[in-house]
Amino acid sequence: MTEKELKAIVVDVPDFPKQGIIFKDISGLLSTNEIRSDVVDKLTQPYQGKRIDVVAGIESRGFLFGMLLAQKLKAKFIMIRKPGKLPGPILKTSYELEYGTDSLEIQEKSIKEDDVVLLHDDVLATGGTAAAAITLLKEAGASKVYANFVLELGFLNGRKQFSESTHSILKY
Ligand code: PRP
Ligand code: MG
Repeated sequence: MTEKELKAIVVDVPDFPKQGIIFKDISGLLSTNEIRSDVVDKLTQPYQGKRIDVVAGIESRGFLFGMLLAQKLKAKFIMIRKPGKLPGPILKTSYELEYGTDSLEIQEKSIKEDDVVLLHDDVLATGGTAAAAITLLKEAGASKVYANFVLELGFLNGRKQFSESTHSILKY
């Protein structure tokens, strides 16, 4: 499928969850095997032949394709979660969101020293979430992190929040 065809499946929802925010509803990208496979192929394309030990998905929408990426890349899958969900010992960091503030947590032992990690989330907006997740992964011992998103809101310059190599398939 072309980028244009995939973008036509993503629905713009104005003023959700707050006034002035245009929410990108990716639900349609989950709907059929054909669409899911195409999205997974495009998301994993840059890493063919590269070492990826772990795919880390960010709660909650980063879990959706994150798990499929781990399957495709034959890597371990780990969860980066919202506060209070993971049993300890955990590492924690707080960050600014496009609409509010939040924290993320990771289980200390989920990353082995020197692991190469593919961080996945559905959307790169301001980059606060991804930057926080990268901080956690590095703290946990990752030697290298690649950042990976279905959708990137380029006008918010999220990429500027971190220096990791970044791949997204639908750019706005
Ligand atoms: C959304 C989205 C990304 C993040 C992007 O998640 O799924 O994770 O915001 O924003 P940023 O680049 O400005 O940090 P949200 O926290 O709304 O929750 P959800 O994934 O649980 O729906
Ligand atoms: Mg999210």
